Amino acid sequence: MSLEVRTLEASDFAGWLRATRLGFHRPATVGDEEIELRRPYTDLARTQGAFDDGRCVATFRSMPRDLTVPGGAVLPASAITHVTVSATHRRRGVASRMMANELAATAERGEPLAILIAAEYPIYGRFGFGPAAGVTEWHVDTARAGLRPPGDDEDGRVELVDPADVLKSGPELHERVRVQVPGSINRNDRWWELFTGKVRMSADEPWKEPIFAFYRDSSGRVDGLAAYTVADEWHGMYPQAPLEIKNLIAATPAAERALWRYLLSIDWVTTVRTGFRAHDDVMPLLLADRRAARVDNSSDFLWLRFVDVPRSLAARTYAAPGTVVLDVLDPYGYAAGRFRLEVSPGGTATAEAAPSAAPDLTLTAADLAALYLGDESAVRLATIGQVTESRPGTAAQVDALFRTSRKPWAIDGF
Ligand SMILES: CC(C)(COP(=O)(O)OP(=O)(O)OC[C@H]1O[C@@H](n2cnc3c(N)ncnc32)[C@H](O)[C@@H]1OP(=O)(O)O)[C@@H](O)C(=O)NCCC(=O)NCCS
Repeated sequence: MSLEVRTLEASDFAGWLRATRLGFHRPATVGDEEIELRRPYTDLARTQGAFDDGRCVATFRSMPRDLTVPGGAVLPASAITHVTVSATHRRRGVASRMMANELAATAERGEPLAILIAAEYPIYGRFGFGPAAGVTEWHVDTARAGLRPPGDDEDGRVELVDPADVLKSGPELHERVRVQVPGSINRNDRWWELFTGKVRMSADEPWKEPIFAFYRDSSGRVDGLAAYTVADEWHGMYPQAPLEIKNLIAATPAAERALWRYLLSIDWVTTVRTGFRAHDDVMPLLLADRRAARVDNSSDFLWLRFVDVPRSLAARTYAAPGTVVLDVLDPYGYAAGRFRLEVSPGGTATAEAAPSAAPDLTLTAADLAALYLGDESAVRLATIGQVTESRPGTAAQVDALFRTSRKPWAIDGF
């Protein structure tokens, strides 16, 4: 099979989109509207296709994004998406070729990290990606939850708003929130247009306009946003409406508490599905009966790969001072080597290649990725023999350094 793998020309775009849809098992026909909406947001130089006799059979693209790391710094990350290989061409190394091209391009562009959302767990570990920020989804029985609506005891208030209000005030709120949440990325204008229904990507995707609510503090500042839909379901004369949260972000604890209380105490609503939240979301702690929140799904979500280890390690802050030499294994080479991480008493760090230093802990690039945002523990990985201590106690020391008060959360998929 002679396949041509290359970045796109403008004339390839419609065929590439068609292949993307087929790769995700969706109807192949692409409307002009979808082409027009996607084209300005697709950098062809970062978009690959594989062509068999001129027909696009595999797709791959990346987007520049800012990833928040512990401590609030943001790092440029290559956000990989639209990875598909047509069922007729799978398992012949096509995705591997495109990934190799992408990682080389990521290094060339000087982006220290690549990130993606894995459709299936086994796909990306071989390429040096590790599961770096997981998600949990709860199903809440509102009667058991026993929450009262937010009211006079709050300084701020919850108000229902229009999509136009969300377009106006949502981006600024999200910018404040995402730098507080390691694992999250920036949003572009198109994200907000799709979220509010201002534009629709394709007619075959079901759309129901969400109900939007803001939390405003006592000065009127928008500190929180919730978007949700409610299904009109009844059992005889008893309303049994399930509520589904599409998005809930809060810049302050007061906003977070108030929005949860609001969503979990709405008339007719008997169950609330939370959508993908951080593993350690505070919501269950707010409930009078915490068993009212059942975990529906808990899994890996955001995967991360180091392209520049010293820059990535130095960008985050740490919970304790100390020095550790990490011996990182990476068959692709980008993250391979020994690195000395030195954390000052203030929690800031320097990290540098130290090829002749004695290693304290040996681990794969994927394992370091799992530790990086605070999702995983080195002691857990040592217990299963996944990381190896050369100096006894290093795994616990790494945990003391890398520990974060809150779990990372990738607010958005991409
Ligand atoms: C996932 C996908 C892109 C892989 O493409 P591909 O060209 O078949 O992958 P490759 O041939 O380069 O695979 C390289 C290796 O990964 C393994 N692999 C690839 N996809 C896998 C999967 N879904 N599950 C388990 N292993 C997988 C292959 O078996 C191969 O292993 P080997 O080197 O030991 O033989 C393709 O199967 C696909 O389009 N799936 C449906 C859409 C999807 O899930 N896309 C990913 C979105 S995040």
